[in-house]
Amino acid sequence: MHLFEEWISQAEQRATTRPLVSLCYAQSLDGCVALQRGRPTALSGAETQRLTHWLRSKHEAILVGSGTVIADDPQLTVRLVEGQNPQPIILDSRLRTPLNARLILGHPRPAWIATTEAADPARRAALEAVGATLLFLPQDRNGKVELMPLLECLAQRGVSRLMVEGGAQVIGSFLTAGLVDLLCVTIAPVLLGGLHAVEQALFHAPRLREVHVERMGEDLVVWGKLN
Ligand SMILES: NC(=O)c1ccc[n+]([C@@H]2O[C@H](COP(=O)([O-])OP(=O)(O)OC[C@H]3O[C@@H](n4cnc5c(N)ncnc54)[C@H](OP(=O)(O)O)[C@@H]3O)[C@@H](O)[C@H]2O)c1
Repeated sequence: MHLFEEWISQAEQRATTRPLVSLCYAQSLDGCVALQRGRPTALSGAETQRLTHWLRSKHEAILVGSGTVIADDPQLTVRLVEGQNPQPIILDSRLRTPLNARLILGHPRPAWIATTEAADPARRAALEAVGATLLFLPQDRNGKVELMPLLECLAQRGVSRLMVEGGAQVIGSFLTAGLVDLLCVTIAPVLLGGLHAVEQALFHAPRLREVHVERMGEDLVVWGKLN
C-alpha cells in the first residue's frame, strides 16, 4: 500500500463530522498554478498526471471552484489508471458554471454544485435541467460558500474522502480555514511568474508534518500531513 493511501485510511478513523480533505495540485518552481488566472496551463509530466488520476481514484469526491470550470472545463475523471471516478463538486455561489460544462453534460457522475440561497432561481433551474444537483449552503462574509457546512453536508451524503484540486482561490480558502488534512503538491521544473497557488497571507503558516519527497519523471512530488 502506498504511504498516502495508508494516511488516508488512518485519517479516516479520526472522529469528526466532516470528510478527510486532501489538497492535491500542480505548481511551477515559483509556486504558480497557471500562467494567468483563467488560462489553462499544462504543468504535470506523464508520471505525475498518472499520480493525479490515482489520487482521484482514492477519493469519493473531488472539488474545484467555478473559476477552474470556466477556465479549464475539466472532466476530473480517472482515465490513466484503473479505478472509480470520484463525484465532482463545484464551489459556485453565483452559479457561473456553464450549462455545457463537461462536469455535467455527458459526465458519468454529473456534478453537485455547492451554492447559496442567494443564487439566481432561473440559473438554478437551468443547471438542474441539464443534470446538476444543487446543494444550498450558508454564505461566508464574502458571499461565498461556507466550507465547514459544505463538508458536513458532504459527510451526510456519504462522502468520507474529498480531494480538492484547485484553483488558486479554492486552495487559499481551504488552507485559511485550516480544513486540509493531507497535502500533495507536484512541482514541475518550469517558472511561470503567474497565478500563485496561494494568493493571500496564511497567518497561521501551516507547516507539513511527516514530509515526503519523491521524484517522478522530471517533477518533484511533496506530500505530508497538515492536521
Ligand atoms: N495547477 C493546478 O493543479 C490547477 C488546478 C486547478 C485549477 N488551476 C488553475 O487555476 C485557475 C483558476 O483559479 P481561480 O482562483 O481563478 O478559481 P477557482 O479557485 O477555481 O474558483 C474560485 C471561485 O469559486 C467560487 N467559490 C465559491 N465559494 C468559494 C470559497 N469558499 N472559496 C473560494 N472560492 C469559492 C468563487 O466564485 P463565486 O463567487 O462566483 O462563487 C470563486 O471566484 C485556472 O487558471 C486553472 O487553470 C490549476
